[in-house]
Amino acid sequence: MTKRTQIIAVANQKGGVGKTTTVVNLAAALARQRRTVLVVDLDPQANATGGLGLEKTQGVSIYPVLMGTAEIADVIQPTAYDNLNVIPSEVDLAGAEIEIARREDHLNVIRDALAPVRESGVFDYILLDCPPSLGIVMTSSLAAADGVLVPMQAEFLAMEGLGLITNLLAQLQAGPNSGLQLNGILLTMVNMVATQTKDVIAMVKERFGDRVYETTIPRNIRTSEAPSYGQPVIHYDPTCKGAVAYRAFAKEFIARTPTRFEEEEPTNDQIA
Ligand SMILES: Nc1ncnc2c1ncn2[C@@H]1O[C@H](COP(=O)(O)OP(=O)(O)O)[C@@H](O)[C@H]1O
Ligand SMILES: [Mg+2]
Repeated sequence: MTKRTQIIAVANQKGGVGKTTTVVNLAAALARQRRTVLVVDLDPQANATGGLGLEKTQGVSIYPVLMGTAEIADVIQPTAYDNLNVIPSEVDLAGAEIEIARREDHLNVIRDALAPVRESGVFDYILLDCPPSLGIVMTSSLAAADGVLVPMQAEFLAMEGLGLITNLLAQLQAGPNSGLQLNGILLTMVNMVATQTKDVIAMVKERFGDRVYETTIPRNIRTSEAPSYGQPVIHYDPTCKGAVAYRAFAKEFIARTPTRFEEEEPTNDQIA
């Protein structure tokens, strides 16, 4: 059954694997395809916030919503791009781990915070940029999500880390979030010249089958430069390899993650 709003947690406990880059660029590419998107920056480092061209502002994040001192509607910020909105991060968010852990209902806090936005049906997709740890923010993000998107680098060592997140996924599926899906594994910063790359891709596909996206994201200088200009790479340099890959990925993601948008406007894919 298709839902109006799909909540997707972009997660991997390892840092530097391309989570934030994927959130920013997938969000921008979805918005270009006329999907309404909300990015929630859950990492105190605020890289998604900066990458979308916003500055950190005290009191404007999910943190005061979790604390019950702000309404979620008041922390949603527009970006320079149509259909693309963000709940930024701020320094205070670093305290969220401890604050949430104190709550008895800690697994539900992010789901409850997002509930009014989901119920409003305004957004096709809500993308959660998770911090790089197996902590409580990431766990409660997965508890709130319909799907988890796991970016990983095509390196042998990354395979081990994948076990940790798939175990957590299985625990949530067995209890608090039985509907949670592995939306997919996205291979990032791929360098086809490196000898291990093809072997690692083959191993991941053998283990996870069609849960591995066909699209892979190449290592690309322009993609790593774009955040310092506060722009998604599809706007910073629309023709570079990273931009082309993220646009292709957005199409594959939409096909795998339908919302009511597809039912209401069935001809859209032909337009795109
Ligand atoms: N496809 C890519 N090509 C080149 N550099 C990339 C690519 N994807 C990410 N990076 C760079 O790698 C670093 C880590 O990426 P990031 O998305 O911040 O990872 P994470 O959120 O998992 O910590 C950043 O400096 C980013 O600009
Ligand atoms: Mg990040």
